[in-house]
Amino acid sequence: MNLLEKFNSFSPGAFETTWRSPSNIAFVKYWGKKGHQLPANPSISLTLKECFTETTVSFRPSDLPSLELYLDNVREPKFETKINSFLAGLSLPVLSKLSITIKTKNTFPHGTGIASSASGLSAFCLCLVDYLYEASGTDRRDFFQTASFVSRLASGSACRSVYPGFVSWGESELSGSSDYFATPLDVHPEMRNLRDTILVVSGEEKKVSSTQGHGKMKDHFFAEARFAQGKVNYHHTLEALKKGDMERTGVILESEALSLHAMMLTSPVPYTLLKPNTLAAIDMIWAFREETKLPLYFTLDAGPNLHLLYPETAANKIKTFISVELSKFATMVIDDERGEGPVKC
Ligand code: PMV
Repeated sequence: MNLLEKFNSFSPGAFETTWRSPSNIAFVKYWGKKGHQLPANPSISLTLKECFTETTVSFRPSDLPSLELYLDNVREPKFETKINSFLAGLSLPVLSKLSITIKTKNTFPHGTGIASSASGLSAFCLCLVDYLYEASGTDRRDFFQTASFVSRLASGSACRSVYPGFVSWGESELSGSSDYFATPLDVHPEMRNLRDTILVVSGEEKKVSSTQGHGKMKDHFFAEARFAQGKVNYHHTLEALKKGDMERTGVILESEALSLHAMMLTSPVPYTLLKPNTLAAIDMIWAFREETKLPLYFTLDAGPNLHLLYPETAANKIKTFISVELSKFATMVIDDERGEGPVKC
């Protein structure tokens, strides 16, 4: 499937556009690929509100194609190389006739260890797809599906950031689901006001990137079992989200986070991204839940930082617990919640 075929022949024009695109946190994790940027199991994520990237891209027709990328007004050759190779992989004739300038910034500070690939690459891809539709005069009916398709090629998890709230990606029992792009998920009204407080335990750069981590699943002893678990957890999470069952959602949420990190610990060359404070905070969350019966659950990305998920209705007591007890394990605490998806500025 190639949703970019419709852009194969048109003449380049000048265009500038700005998009804000949020980060997302996976409830059911995508960890391991098949084919070209396709997920080994379906995943579910929640699109955030406050953690987003804002990107302006200007496209100018040129006989000498070029690309410049500025992050917070500083030129970043490392990201230019990445974007150049991503664009080359799209094989779109128009891209060899353009000078592209990208100016980007994140709302979440550097050195927080929060992955900016989902927000950053979806923001860039939204700008790119905006250009492709505009310059070719194509009907925009499938704009977000195409933006999700292109974002997936840049970074798997980025394909989920183009939709608000809960989002599904990967072929599943859900009608309209696909490995090639994400689809928005309709959930129970009680699951629509979830909060996510991010406990930044360490801002250190990761020793093993997500790309390397996905690669290590290729010859992982437990790969098939993990993909099967991901599929089962996807199915149960879908059911729990539709019923508004926070407890069931939360139990799977934590199991998914720990399975992800167990894959790292048990890979042929083992590694861990967890820090002592990650485990200390987890212990304290479990004790708090046991004692208060309040619906506070955690998940982890491919890193040491904890995302604390809880419904708005329990926010008062849980926020006090976070600031009095859990914040001592963190270098920074970021308050976030369910977001409405990307916006064109
Ligand atoms: O999108 P990538 O290639 O950075 O992989 C993301 C992997 C996880 O964040 C750990 C899980 C997920 O589904 O987002």
